[in-house]
Amino acid sequence: MGKLRVGIAGLGTVGGGLLKLFADPAARLNEKLELVAVSARNRSRDRGVDIGRYRWFDDPVELAAQPDVDVVVELIGGSDGPAKRTVETALQRGAHVVSANKALIAVHGVALAELSEAKGGKLLFEAAVGGGVPMVKALKESVAGCCASAVAGILNGTCNYILTEMESSGRSFEDVLADAQRLGYAEADPIMDVGGFDAAHKLTILSAIAFGARPDFEHVRIEGIERVSLIDIRMAGKLGFRIKLLAKGASTENGVEMHVRPALLAFDHPLANIGGSLNALVVDAEPAGQLTFIGRGAGAGPTAASVAADLIDLAEGRAGFAFGRPLAQLTSAPRATPVERGRYYLRLMVADRPGVVAAISDRLAHESISIESFLQMPAPEGPAVPIVLTTQTCPREAVEAAVAAMQALDVVVEPPYVMPVEVSGARWGRG
Ligand SMILES: NC(=O)c1ccc[n+]([C@@H]2O[C@H](COP(=O)([O-])OP(=O)(O)OC[C@H]3O[C@@H](n4cnc5c(N)ncnc54)[C@H](OP(=O)(O)O)[C@@H]3O)[C@@H](O)[C@H]2O)c1
Repeated sequence: MGKLRVGIAGLGTVGGGLLKLFADPAARLNEKLELVAVSARNRSRDRGVDIGRYRWFDDPVELAAQPDVDVVVELIGGSDGPAKRTVETALQRGAHVVSANKALIAVHGVALAELSEAKGGKLLFEAAVGGGVPMVKALKESVAGCCASAVAGILNGTCNYILTEMESSGRSFEDVLADAQRLGYAEADPIMDVGGFDAAHKLTILSAIAFGARPDFEHVRIEGIERVSLIDIRMAGKLGFRIKLLAKGASTENGVEMHVRPALLAFDHPLANIGGSLNALVVDAEPAGQLTFIGRGAGAGPTAASVAADLIDLAEGRAGFAFGRPLAQLTSAPRATPVERGRYYLRLMVADRPGVVAAISDRLAHESISIESFLQMPAPEGPAVPIVLTTQTCPREAVEAAVAAMQALDVVVEPPYVMPVEVSGARWGRG
């Protein structure tokens, strides 16, 4: 059999990394695949390697329509627009697609997998989650014989970098974000990252594969890191916790539950020490037990390496179903009604007056919530004083009711901030 002929649509960070791999004659990639066509917006931009020997297309959809391109690699990005049209065009004519585009797969994964199954081309997207860390493959293949009950991950390197820097340098969220933008670690419009949406796209994909359910991005409850303050980071540290943006999915008797939000992780939690721009995933899967995967979650090299691994799978006939099993076998489980129990962290900014602590304790007692720990520190500036407490295990609903009651107190000067506390493991709501 001849080599599989590849076309790359998108020659930016990841596409550029893949071009470099193809430019190395010794790379295993070149044994069974041949790069024949490329597409980007700007033909004259320097891509670091000579692209003159490949057929050029201004329009990635035209590249995807070429009958002699067996595999279309989509590295443009975005859930709609040219990326979607490129992938649809390739799948429609039975070509294979490899993509790093988590937004596209999370939002349109079912329709694209349908097209793939109907027309025979494979759809692979290892690079869409965890950059160079083989999270998709691990769930599709290594854990296939297990029953996965929960996945929990640090899936957004930008947020993890910001939170790690805030802790180590004592600088505010705004300061660190501005630095990250200057250094190119964060986008000019950072909302996809700091708002939790990028992690939610990745969690959608991982949960679908882990739990054998149709990807359902709309069902992820999403909260970003914008409200995490230095006070939270310091207070959490004093109590033995580190704050992370945690993406967590669980298979419950009511269906699949997915949540992206900042959480306090105990120092001995397997995800607590994942620093900087690293990504990590913990999987609870019986009978294998708990598994942890760690590595570089973004960047040209790691991400291109994952794309290359998918290409080699295709060339060696190892590529399976997009979400690990045929669409017909994926459940459309009823969406879980979030019935959540756990320990919670509350930060309140209060007026420095006698009786405040008693009033807060009273609101918690009214909802039968017991306090695990309580810290008060002098206000850095201004009249408001931060009070921080963690609860013992209780229903989330009770915490929300107590918080609503506290908010009505005239001594509480801004809406209380609540984060879940994770002691260990990936299990949902473990207290
Ligand atoms: N960067 C990472 O570390 C990383 C990690 C994991 C996954 N991903 C995913 O990989 C994908 C690519 O990301 P990236 O960081 O490589 O993006 P990028 O650097 O912005 O590159 C995007 C590429 O797409 C081309 N492009 C954009 N619009 C186009 C259009 N309308 N027609 C033709 N070409 C078009 C651009 O052309 P020009 O170069 O001519 O402007 C550029 O080459 C995204 O889905 C992203 O989420 C990225």
